[in-house]
Amino acid sequence: MSHRDVKHHLLFEISTEVANRVGGIYSVIKSKAPITTAEYRDRYTLIGPLNRKSAAIEVEELTPTDPYLVETLRSMSERGVQYLYGRWLIEGAPRVLLFETGPAFSHLDEWKTDLWNVAGIPSPVGDSETNEAVVFGYLVAWFLGEFVYHDRTRAVVAHFHEWLAGVALPLCRKRRIDVTTIFTTHATLLGRYLCAGSVDFYNNLQYFDVDAEAGKRGIYHRYCIERAAAHSADVFTTVSHITAYESEHLLKRKPDGVLPNGLNVVKFSAVHEFQNLHAVSKAKINDFIRGHFYGHYDFDLDNTLYVFTAGRYEYRNKGVDMFIESLARLNHRLKTENSNKTVVAFIIMPAATHSYTVETLKGQAVMKALHDTVNEIQESVGRRLFERSARFNEDSGKDFSAELNDLLTGSEKVLLKRRVFALKRHTQPPIVTHNMADDANDPILNQIRRVQLFNDSSDRVKIIFHPEFLNSNNPILSLDYDDFVRGCHLGIFPSYYEPWGYTPAECTVMGVPSITTNLSGFGCYMEELIENTSDYGIYIVDRRSKGIDDSINQLADYMFQFSLKSRRQRINQRNRTERLSDLLDWKRMGLEYIKARQLALRRAYSSSFDNQEGFEDFFDGTEMKLSRPLSAQASPKDRTGMMTPGDFGSLQEGQEGLNTDDYIGFKLPEEEDDEAYPYPLSL
Ligand code: UDP
Ligand code: G6P
Ligand code: GLC
Repeated sequence: MSHRDVKHHLLFEISTEVANRVGGIYSVIKSKAPITTAEYRDRYTLIGPLNRKSAAIEVEELTPTDPYLVETLRSMSERGVQYLYGRWLIEGAPRVLLFETGPAFSHLDEWKTDLWNVAGIPSPVGDSETNEAVVFGYLVAWFLGEFVYHDRTRAVVAHFHEWLAGVALPLCRKRRIDVTTIFTTHATLLGRYLCAGSVDFYNNLQYFDVDAEAGKRGIYHRYCIERAAAHSADVFTTVSHITAYESEHLLKRKPDGVLPNGLNVVKFSAVHEFQNLHAVSKAKINDFIRGHFYGHYDFDLDNTLYVFTAGRYEYRNKGVDMFIESLARLNHRLKTENSNKTVVAFIIMPAATHSYTVETLKGQAVMKALHDTVNEIQESVGRRLFERSARFNEDSGKDFSAELNDLLTGSEKVLLKRRVFALKRHTQPPIVTHNMADDANDPILNQIRRVQLFNDSSDRVKIIFHPEFLNSNNPILSLDYDDFVRGCHLGIFPSYYEPWGYTPAECTVMGVPSITTNLSGFGCYMEELIENTSDYGIYIVDRRSKGIDDSINQLADYMFQFSLKSRRQRINQRNRTERLSDLLDWKRMGLEYIKARQLALRRAYSSSFDNQEGFEDFFDGTEMKLSRPLSAQASPKDRTGMMTPGDFGSLQEGQEGLNTDDYIGFKLPEEEDDEAYPYPLSL
């Protein structure tokens, strides 16, 4: 590689979720933006494919000013490339460059042939997702190649997320584009597919015949892209140790390190502000519940707990099968123990639907009509009460209590009666809020049918399936996801396959207790960092060493024990949970990203490090210390005086890949010999 200025290097971060929410990768780049822009300012640009619908809301167009960028984009657009350059309207306001893939599809056949010739990656017809990935990858490689041709002084780090953005990686390597690259995988394709089937994944990880397994599932070409991306990158990383282990076996390259996901932690000036927000959001959920259960609203909201699971609809991977089964067991237990608690369990997972059901809309409408009527009557009754009191004269000999009778007029009583009659219904309160495109075959609905949780009056556990992500503009349950989480009591994420798992992490920073598993990156991370996680409102179900039935019982038991807590105990626990926020703040977690970039720079531009004065060496950096929650007995594990993400056997200079001993928080079955690995794709 050439000699370039590494101190003032540029950073391009490439992902298909730039200004386009699909799942957790969007959360990674969005929440990380403030610290990355603080570090790089205008030397940082995110690159993604253009999704006009979301970009219209999330991106403000800008005119590029960097002369090399201007030159590169001019030359690309002269050859028909279309793009949107602008500012992503999120905290940190990073610059984004979004390529329109549509017009570039005219090159698809040519690029597919090239991909086969240079990297041996096949791309069959008819896989539109792969076609998108190929076109986007070629546009990115084109851009990077042109850019470093124009800008010959500054070093460039190109950081790619996930296989969908990974096609450019083998191209950068083959074309010897003068950039250094990082590939972060947030899962493996095979991992996701194998786990979604009924495979004992973790005990067999080392033995899968990867090519054959990918072939059987019709994803061999995608797998080739992912594997080529992992092998072509200067630095290869994942988001957790469990996924590092998986990547080593399924992608055949040991990651150089783990970059755990952080969050942009918002600290309120008043310590208890987040508790108030809980009460405000809970009141909104209460409103929804009254409408949803109209006619059967026979439980006390003061003794009701809101629990939920949420995420992309991956039935088995996200542990929804286990969630529903354990809800049935919880229902049984609450009934037999005559509990006065009601548990309402929400499932927020997008599925194909034809909008809200009439019943759902009606429930909210009749409750609103009742509410409006009561408000009107309340006003007239108030006026009458005031008049009668003001005009009351003790000397008249009348009884004052008699004045308080008949405050409601006949017509008001009739109106109220009509509203109350409208609340009658002879059917059970619905489970699902939307008309499902395939109701009969929906796995969640079928599991609910199997365990017969039908929102009967006698049930102590009620279920509501909302098959669409939440949004404050929705006509019902009009809350943004974050506000909904705040209003709930417990998040439940019993995942079987979860490289990280933002959902429980988000609960933590909002002070909401959660249940996760020791098969999720987040669960392993917290278990490793904290002595007794349940003291802090993070419950971890053992899905690794227990049989499925025992894990379900453990989950049901966690929920039951939670239902026994008093309000005061819940408030205390929320306080403790919220104190863990600092652990997940990008201000800590971001250090691993810095190290990854420095390693990439050192690997590609080693000679440029001579005489780089003022270049901070993060490999020797000291990091923030975790403060101990005051009210808790348990303490975060204290092995070496302080624990930081860097203690997780992560990035180190002069080392090719993590050591097997480095997979912390994920104990390994017996290891096979390194030499025995089938060899990487030839590049
Ligand atoms: N999420 C959302 N709206 C919802 C439910 C979930 O935006 O109604 C987000 C949630 O905030 C989280 C992401 O979806 O950041 C899911 O990420 P996770 O890492 O848990 O799983 P992934 O989908 O990436 O596998
Ligand atoms: C917050 C509020 C309290 C409220 C409580 C309800 O702490 O500040 O005013 O009483 O939430 O908690 P709960 O767990 O019963 O929803
Ligand atoms: C992936 C994983 C999820 C992780 C997210 C962000 O989509 O499924 O577990 O939290 O990426 O890294």
